[in-house]
Amino acid sequence: MAVRSSSRTNRVFVFIFATVVVVLALFLFYHFKPPLIDYLAARMGHKAGEDSLIRIPELILWSILAFLGVRALGTLIFDLLFRIRRGYEAPTLVRNIFSLLAFTGLFVLIFNKIYEEINLGALFTTSAIFGVIIGLALQDTLGNFFAGISLHADRPFQVGDVIVVGLQKHTGVIESITWRAIKIRTFQNHIVLVSNSNAAKEAIEVCPRENLNARLVLFGTLYTDSPAKTIHVVREAVRDADNVSEKITPIVRIRNLGDFSIEWEVKYWLDDYAKYNDTDALVRQRVWYALRRNGLTFAFPTYTLHLERKSVARPVTAEEQIADRLSAVDVFSPLSAEELKQLATATVGHVFAPSETLIRAGDEGSSMFVVNNGRVAVQVVERGTPRTVAVLTEGNFFGEMALFTGEPRTANVVALEETEVLEIGHAAMKHIFETNPSLAESISWTIAERQADLAAGSLQASQQSIQESAGVLASIKRFFGLH
Ligand code: CMP
Repeated sequence: MAVRSSSRTNRVFVFIFATVVVVLALFLFYHFKPPLIDYLAARMGHKAGEDSLIRIPELILWSILAFLGVRALGTLIFDLLFRIRRGYEAPTLVRNIFSLLAFTGLFVLIFNKIYEEINLGALFTTSAIFGVIIGLALQDTLGNFFAGISLHADRPFQVGDVIVVGLQKHTGVIESITWRAIKIRTFQNHIVLVSNSNAAKEAIEVCPRENLNARLVLFGTLYTDSPAKTIHVVREAVRDADNVSEKITPIVRIRNLGDFSIEWEVKYWLDDYAKYNDTDALVRQRVWYALRRNGLTFAFPTYTLHLERKSVARPVTAEEQIADRLSAVDVFSPLSAEELKQLATATVGHVFAPSETLIRAGDEGSSMFVVNNGRVAVQVVERGTPRTVAVLTEGNFFGEMALFTGEPRTANVVALEETEVLEIGHAAMKHIFETNPSLAESISWTIAERQADLAAGSLQASQQSIQESAGVLASIKRFFGLH
């Protein structure tokens, strides 16, 4: 700030000094003009030439004074009035156009005053060759000039915005827009000048300073890692990183199921887009630590060889763990440890993503499920809108109705979060029923109750269920061929 104000004082001082010098020079010029004319006349010997010769310094001095005047006026209008009114600095191009027009106007006036006998307008308009020369010489300059004007009229970007321009994809922060070029400071701290006419021809990507601009950061995880967990862990790790905007929560999503990995992208919005390189790096670092802390693994090119075993269905979790889980299911409580182990061997584990449908009402079904991890909602669709009848959690079972009665599925079952279920098929249940006749009875109670809930959900209906369970039991026995 101090440097700026001292350079301004310097400029004011130089300006005043120059003005004083020019005014003094003019004063001296007019003072010595008659003797000078006489002297020249004496030297040259005739009167016509020396008069027009003497007017050259007069023209120069007045032009310099006009130039200083235009500069002073420009400073007054743009530095003071414009900034106070609009709150930002006037574009350099506008200032230059103003200076050019004002100075040309003044120069023509001065010229006409000093050389009254010469018609400047006619000189310009009649001189076709002069026009062609000027036109050819200024072709590029004028192209840049007009392109600059149109860029300013459109205002597609401003000083401070990040832009990507040209085939070479020059990227950086705009430092200034002049009548000739756009000056960009790249992220390697180099200056790139893109001429206005080139910029007007090419596609420009603008990331305005006042805009919430987003970035994508990519990474990959192993297929064995849970997507729901990855999303949660990465989003939480990234959202409070420096320069990541709090206004929009970052989005973590699967970009592709690649050959070697689940390919992810983190989309986040920046407070200050010009610092995106640092923020990208910080986000990558956060992702690394978050994955490491949560036991998730970055993928690298790997091939996973699956050797197929004889038994097609393999449980997801270890057998003992599954037997443990099944023992906690109320209807299986009469089963012995050995029977639970047998049942566990026959189960197949499945993982479902949040909001995935596990069972669709109306489908055929020949297996039931026990929730091993997570939560599911049982939903019936009434007049087009789903109504949740029950939410089932770890240790609850579902899908038994279709399995035991042979009827179609009675409701939709939807995962509320990432959910792992254990599927038990018809054959495994038949075996269990044969050794545990009481099991069919307790399941028939559950089914009758659930049927009543589905029917109405009222007290009357649940009392009915007591009578109906006898009917359910009979149909279970029939369906499984039990006596
Ligand atoms: P099924 O008909 O095979 O498929 C849908 C499942 O939703 C059904 O078996 C039951 O397991 C379950 N279900 C239906 N109604 C209810 C309820 N009222 N409470 C809990 N679960 C239910």
